[in-house]
Amino acid sequence: MTDISLEEAVRGRHSVRGFLPDPVPQELLNKVFELAQWAPSGTNIQPWQVYVASGATRDALRTEFIRRAQTGQSPKLDHVDRGKVGEPWRERRRDCAKALYSAMDIAWEDKESRECASLRNFELFDAPHVAFLCMNEVFGMVAAADLGMYVQTLMLSMTAHGLASCAQGTMAHYPDLVRETFNLDPMIKVLFGISFGYEDPSVAANQARTVRAPLEQSVVFRNV
Ligand SMILES: Cc1cc2nc3c(=O)[nH]c(=O)nc-3n(C[C@H](O)[C@H](O)[C@H](O)COP(=O)(O)O)c2cc1C
Repeated sequence: MTDISLEEAVRGRHSVRGFLPDPVPQELLNKVFELAQWAPSGTNIQPWQVYVASGATRDALRTEFIRRAQTGQSPKLDHVDRGKVGEPWRERRRDCAKALYSAMDIAWEDKESRECASLRNFELFDAPHVAFLCMNEVFGMVAAADLGMYVQTLMLSMTAHGLASCAQGTMAHYPDLVRETFNLDPMIKVLFGISFGYEDPSVAANQARTVRAPLEQSVVFRNV
């Protein structure tokens, strides 16, 4: 593990959307994922089931993801968000996209370039590994929160071990493909994925940085 403080890991982790082809050695993968196992969960049920594709498995998945996205195959997600998202969340979402397109020098009006940028998701941003975060369908929202705990722990573990990552809701677009690849029971549902590996610093998209809302928009302290 690198000599990095918790604050450095939390503030230093950012979504990376361009990776070097070098695979992460299995020994390091074991360390990184073992540390993430220490994430908390309600009654310690540990509902996360994680499937990591590398090598030929990753290549075949990537090819099929690209084919489906390019031919406009509609996503068929296991979990769908409820209702329309209003403010302030819409604006935060727009700002996040703007930060990425501006780092990539893509004008908002340039729909074709934006679509190409979006397709990069299915190319796994060239990452040598992609992890699929899944849970059994017997679980509901509370266990999904446990998965959130796990994923941030995992991404911080990656940061602390010198690895880069990008969480991807887009990796839940074709869950049937994930189940087929890993021969999973239909009860296993895909929530999202994480492409990861070593950051390619020459990729423009990796210069994108997001901001956070001021504390008072998210947290209320009351003591009287
Ligand atoms: C559950 C989840 C799903 C995400 N899905 C995608 C995605 O499909 N594609 C993408 O490029 N980024 C995706 N992101 C990355 C977010 O856009 C990013 O975390 C956010 O803008 C904050 O930026 P930061 O990670 O650099 O701090 C996702 C992040 C999370 C936590």
